[in-house]
Amino acid sequence: MLATFESERDRGIALASASSTLQELDEAKTAVLGRKAPFSDAQKRLGTLDPESRKRVGQIANDARDALNRAFDERRVVLEAQAEDALLEADRIDLSLPGRRPPRGSLHPLTLVEDEIVEVFLRLGFRVVDGPEVEDDWHNFQALNIPPDHPARTMKDSLYVAIPGHPELLLRTETSAAQIRTMRSQPPPVSIVAPGRVYRRETPDATHLPVFHQVECLVVDEGITFADLKGTLEVMARAVFGERRRVRLGPAYFPFVEPGAEVGVSCFVCDGVGCRVCGNGWIELLGAGMVHPKVLENCGYDSERYTGFAFGLGVERVALLKYAIPDMRMLLEGDVRFLSQFGGAA
Ligand code: FA5
Repeated sequence: MLATFESERDRGIALASASSTLQELDEAKTAVLGRKAPFSDAQKRLGTLDPESRKRVGQIANDARDALNRAFDERRVVLEAQAEDALLEADRIDLSLPGRRPPRGSLHPLTLVEDEIVEVFLRLGFRVVDGPEVEDDWHNFQALNIPPDHPARTMKDSLYVAIPGHPELLLRTETSAAQIRTMRSQPPPVSIVAPGRVYRRETPDATHLPVFHQVECLVVDEGITFADLKGTLEVMARAVFGERRRVRLGPAYFPFVEPGAEVGVSCFVCDGVGCRVCGNGWIELLGAGMVHPKVLENCGYDSERYTGFAFGLGVERVALLKYAIPDMRMLLEGDVRFLSQFGGAA
């Protein structure tokens, strides 16, 4: 019995220190101190000894068990620390590796173009104004000299907004409504630009979208003439397109100007010859003209004293011309390979 306690103690201590994992250590402990181990067997047999021997051998058994428990506990502390170290090592971050740079965003080409156009006008001393995208019939049509039965209403298919009690609300078809809101809110002189989104029931193609952007420009003062309009357009065209593109001015009809004009820029694909993108060699960029006296009067301005010019420029068309984008729909697709070519840092 005595021999068993001593030899099992020595065997257990050896097994504990030889265990290299927590699992091996648990198995070793069960083998030495488990209920079916020789040590426990011997301990059960202590009762067969006479009281004197039982006390002496029992004490030796207890000391041996204490020594074993201590050996296993000490080894467990060491192995647990090793396991923790291994885990930390596996998770270690190598600070010497170069960091992963988050991809750098860029401004959308439409934002770049709109900012650039607005910037030209800010340099000329214009003010930037905003207008609502949901407009009423009066601002979008009537005040612009387009009464309910006017044929110009059929020139653009409008998108109406179904709000009970407000049958006259629609998504603005042009930024020209901003002219009315500006003149109604201030006396002359006026020199503003109003960038914004407009909506028309149109089928998208390479040069048309149902939702697009315009920049409206309005100048009203005493003595404003068509020459001021032409000069302003030339300054803008040169600033935005450089000297490369040819600009042409032709007659056009808009109910809210008289006379009216249309400005086209020579196509970036065929340079004015005529191709699939432009049709006749020119890409129509904007509508313009001298503010109709009726529009001035609708806004409370004295049309005998004041004259003005206005134009509405298509921002998508400028983007097409400036960056040689073959199809306007590419501006909407959100393809990063396309968008990242424009590079302006966000
Ligand atoms: C107008 O919208 C007038 N309000 C412009 C104007 C303002 C005339 C002030 C006189 C005085 P128009 O419908 O032509 O006109 O549109 C103006 C410009 O918007 C066009 O020259 C073109 O560049 C752009 N545009 C028109 N329709 C679309 C479309 N579906 N998709 C993209 N751009 C368009």
